[in-house]
Amino acid sequence: MDEGLPEAVPTHVAIIMDGNGRWARERGLPRLAGHRAGVENLRRVLRAAADFGIGYLTIYAFSTENWERPTGEVRGLINILEEVIDRELKELQANGVQLRHIGRLEGLRPQLQEKVRQAIELTKHNTRLVLNVAWNYGGRDEIIQAIQRMLEDGLNPLSIDEAVVNRYLFTAGSPDPDLVIRTSGEMRVSNFLIWQSAYSEWWFTPTYWPDFGPEELRQALWAYAQRERRFGTVPALR
Ligand code: IPE
Ligand code: IPE
Ligand code: MG
Repeated sequence: MDEGLPEAVPTHVAIIMDGNGRWARERGLPRLAGHRAGVENLRRVLRAAADFGIGYLTIYAFSTENWERPTGEVRGLINILEEVIDRELKELQANGVQLRHIGRLEGLRPQLQEKVRQAIELTKHNTRLVLNVAWNYGGRDEIIQAIQRMLEDGLNPLSIDEAVVNRYLFTAGSPDPDLVIRTSGEMRVSNFLIWQSAYSEWWFTPTYWPDFGPEELRQALWAYAQRERRFGTVPALR
C-alpha cells in the first residue's frame, strides 16, 4: 500500500456506498444490520476525508428508486437517517463539517424534514468539509426539478447555458465531483450525479461499503493522482 498522500487530492469525492445488504447476508445478519455497519463506516471515512484534505464529500444514501425496496427496509433506513442526525450532529459541528442535502425531503415525516433543515442551518458556516448527503436523490429527478423551476422563473431559453443549469441543480454551490467511487463491485451509475459526473474519474472496488476504510480511500486517491484528465482536448493544448 502506498504511504502518505499524493500531492494533489481531489477537491470533490463522491461515493456510491453500495454492498451493505450483501455484507450482512454473508454474515447471516438482516440487511438493516448491514446499513448500520455502513453508517459506522461512514464515520471513519468522513474523518479520513477531512484529514486527507478533501473539500467536498458527496454520499449516495438513498435513491429515488430505493423506495421500491420492502417497506421494512425503507422504514429502517429512514430511522437510521434520523438517529444519525440526532447522534452525530454535535460531532459534525465540532469537526467543521457543513451538512447539505441533495434530493427531495418529501417522503419524510414533516418533523424529520425539519430536523434535517435545522442541521443544515446549524452547520452552514462550517468550512472544513462540505458533506452533501444524497437522500431521496435521483439524477433524472434532479434534472426534471431544474427544468420545472427554470420554466417557473420564466427564463429566456437562450439564456440557458451550463452555468445556469448548475445553479438549478440540487448541487448548486458544489463543484463537479473529480472522483466518483463505487463499492461492492457494481459498475453502473444508478442515477447518481448524471449531469455533474460528465467528466469525473471513476474508481470501482469489489469491497462492500462497510469494509471500505480510510486505507482504501487513500488507494483511490493515489489511483486518481495517476490519471490524466483530458476534458476532450490533447495534453499539449491544455
Ligand atoms: C447500499 O447498500 C445502501 C443503500 C442503497 C441504501 P445496498 O442495500 O444496496 O446493498 P446491496 O447492494 O443489496 O448489497
Ligand atoms: C445505489 O445503490 C443507491 C445507493 C447507494 C443509495 P443501489 O444498490 O440502490 O443500486 P442498484 O439497484 O444496484 O443499481
Ligand atoms: Mg446495492
